[in-house]
Amino acid sequence: MHSILVIGCGSIGERHLRCFQKTGRCVVSACDTHGALLAVIEERYKVPVFSSLDMALAESRFEAVVICTPAHLHLPIAIKLLNLRLHVFIEKPLAIDNALVPQLRESIAKAERFVAVAYVYHLMPWIVGAREFLKTGELGKVLQASSISGQHFPTFRPAYRDIYYARHELGGGGIQDALTHIVNVTEWLIGPCTRVFCDAAHQSLEGVNVEDTVNVSARHGEALVSYAMTQFQVPNENTLLINCEYGSVKIKTNHQRWGLIRMGDKDWTWHQTPTMERDDMFIAQANAFLDGVEGKDTLLCTFEEAVQTLKFNQAALRSAATGSAIVIE
Ligand SMILES: NC(=O)c1ccc[n+]([C@@H]2O[C@H](COP(=O)([O-])OP(=O)(O)OC[C@H]3O[C@@H](n4cnc5c(N)ncnc54)[C@H](O)[C@@H]3O)[C@@H](O)[C@H]2O)c1
Repeated sequence: MHSILVIGCGSIGERHLRCFQKTGRCVVSACDTHGALLAVIEERYKVPVFSSLDMALAESRFEAVVICTPAHLHLPIAIKLLNLRLHVFIEKPLAIDNALVPQLRESIAKAERFVAVAYVYHLMPWIVGAREFLKTGELGKVLQASSISGQHFPTFRPAYRDIYYARHELGGGGIQDALTHIVNVTEWLIGPCTRVFCDAAHQSLEGVNVEDTVNVSARHGEALVSYAMTQFQVPNENTLLINCEYGSVKIKTNHQRWGLIRMGDKDWTWHQTPTMERDDMFIAQANAFLDGVEGKDTLLCTFEEAVQTLKFNQAALRSAATGSAIVIE
C-alpha cells in the first residue's frame, strides 16, 4: 500500500482524499491548518490528521503528497518535499509566477521522484480519444481552433468570495482558476501557446473584483486559437472545435463525447464515452498518479507542460492589464 499525505483539505483536497482512498491502493492522511475543517475530515474519512505539514513530517512517514493549498504555496511546499525525496502531485495552476520554477526543476532532477500536475482534463476519455485521433495526423495540420466554455460559478462554488478565487496573488480570477484548464488541455492537443492577446473583465460575480469573463485571441505555433469563457453564464458548457486541413474535431466536455467530420462528410460522427461522475475522474487521476509513483507511464500533465500553461496564465494577465499582445518565449 502506498502512503499518501493530502496537504490542504478544502474543496479539492477533500475530493482527492476521498478519491485516493477509493483506489484501494493507498493509505491516506490529511493535513490542514484549519482546525475545524480538519476535525470534520477526521470524522468523515477516519484518517490520521495533522494541523501542519511540519507536524505531519515529524510524526509520520509518507511516500507521496498531494498539494491542494492555494496556488501561491504550491511551489515552496513541492520543493521542500522533493528535497525529502517524496513523490509530488500538485494541484493546478502550478504557481502564480515563475520565481521558484528553476529551483523546483533542480529539485526534481536531484530527487528522481515522480512529479505531476493535477490538470484533470488529461483523464477525460472524450479528450484522450480526440487526442489519439489527432495524433494519427489523418486530418493534416491544425489551422484554427475555438473554445467556448463557462458555467455559473456561484452555483458550483458558493464560497468563491471567501477563498483564493477572490485574489490574483493567491491564484484567483477566471484566467488562473478556470481558463487555465482549457488552455492546458488545448496545448496538450495541439501544442503550446506562443502568443496571447487577452481581453478580460469583471462582469458579474458579486463580492469580487477579479475577472470572471475572458476573451483571448492566441496563436499556438501556426494555429490561430480563440478562447471565450465566462463564469456567470447559466449553461454549464464547454466546447472545443479544432479545424484542420482535411476535417474537424469537436470535443463537447459537458456531453462527454468527441466528434469527427472529414472533408466530404455530411455530418459529425460522434464518439460517446461511458458516463463519468466528477469523482470518477479524480479516482482515475489518483490511479494514474499511483501508476507514476510505481514507475509506469501516465497521461498526467507533466511539470514542464504545467510550466508552459503557467506562462500562458501570466501572459494573459499581462495582456489584459496592458492591452498589448504578449509573445510567449
Ligand atoms: N482540479 C480542479 O478541478 C480544482 C478545483 C478546485 C480547486 N483547484 C485548485 O486546488 C487548490 C485548492 O483549491 P480549493 O478550492 O480546495 O481551496 P480551499 O480554499 O477550499 O482549500 C484550501 C485549503 O488549504 C488549506 N491550507 C492553506 N495553507 C495551508 C498550509 N500551509 N498547510 C496546510 N493546509 C493549508 C486551507 O486551510 C484550506 O482548507 C487551488 O490551487 C485551486 O486552483 C483545482
